[in-house]
Amino acid sequence: MILTVSHQKGGVGKSTVAWNLAVNFSKIIETRIIDLDTQRSLTVTNSLRKEQGLRPIPMLHFDTAEELARYAQEEGDGVLTIIDSGGFDSAFNRVAIIASDLLITPVSDKPFDLMGIQKYEEILKSLSEIQGETIKTKVLFNNINPAMKRFGDLVDFICLSEHFDLLTSILRQRVDIAHSVGEGKSIKEYRIFSKADQEMDELFGEVKTLLGF
Ligand SMILES: Nc1ncnc2c1ncn2[C@@H]1O[C@H](COP(=O)(O)OP(=O)(O)O)[C@@H](O)[C@H]1O
Ligand SMILES: [Mg+2]
Repeated sequence: MILTVSHQKGGVGKSTVAWNLAVNFSKIIETRIIDLDTQRSLTVTNSLRKEQGLRPIPMLHFDTAEELARYAQEEGDGVLTIIDSGGFDSAFNRVAIIASDLLITPVSDKPFDLMGIQKYEEILKSLSEIQGETIKTKVLFNNINPAMKRFGDLVDFICLSEHFDLLTSILRQRVDIAHSVGEGKSIKEYRIFSKADQEMDELFGEVKTLLGF
């Protein structure tokens, strides 16, 4: 099973979301991470985890997009691979999108996010044409100001596009989320029962259902 957290835009929370889902899933299924981010955020996070005396999440590295495609074809049963895609368009990221059983795309409510998701839709459109099927991603509102209640244009765009479905879970802006990753921990390992933990639990539950757990 392959789950890719994907968006061609940087800074939307791909690594943060991929990391928390990977740590949570690692407790119930053999979980591997593929770090396609040029900043190697999760490779660093995983070494911080090791320093904390926690079991690191196994990570895979590929030199070419073809190797990644081969891995995706041969990945055995009973394994979940979580791909943290790079914040740009590349052969690697396109292979990840096509190979995935589930795509999640974090977006925030920042001024340029509507533009970002419009560009990402173009990528999904062109890949869908090549594949001859409509590629869909689950959009996750992440890093949202806790006081913010209305999402306006962004929600309209997401709901009208055939490539996007909105997740019901939402992650608000929580300092604990940033701090926990800085210690190589999931939010649950950092501060259980916090608002961030509750929101992440809800997301984890929704993703489990989507993957058929
Ligand atoms: N829900 C959140 N609450 C607080 N900070 C967040 C949240 N999501 C992401 N961040 C912070 O935003 C920044 C970008 O997140 P990151 O996961 O690195 O994005 P990407 O991988 O898409 O570039 C990081 O500093 C991260 O700690
Ligand atoms: Mg990243």
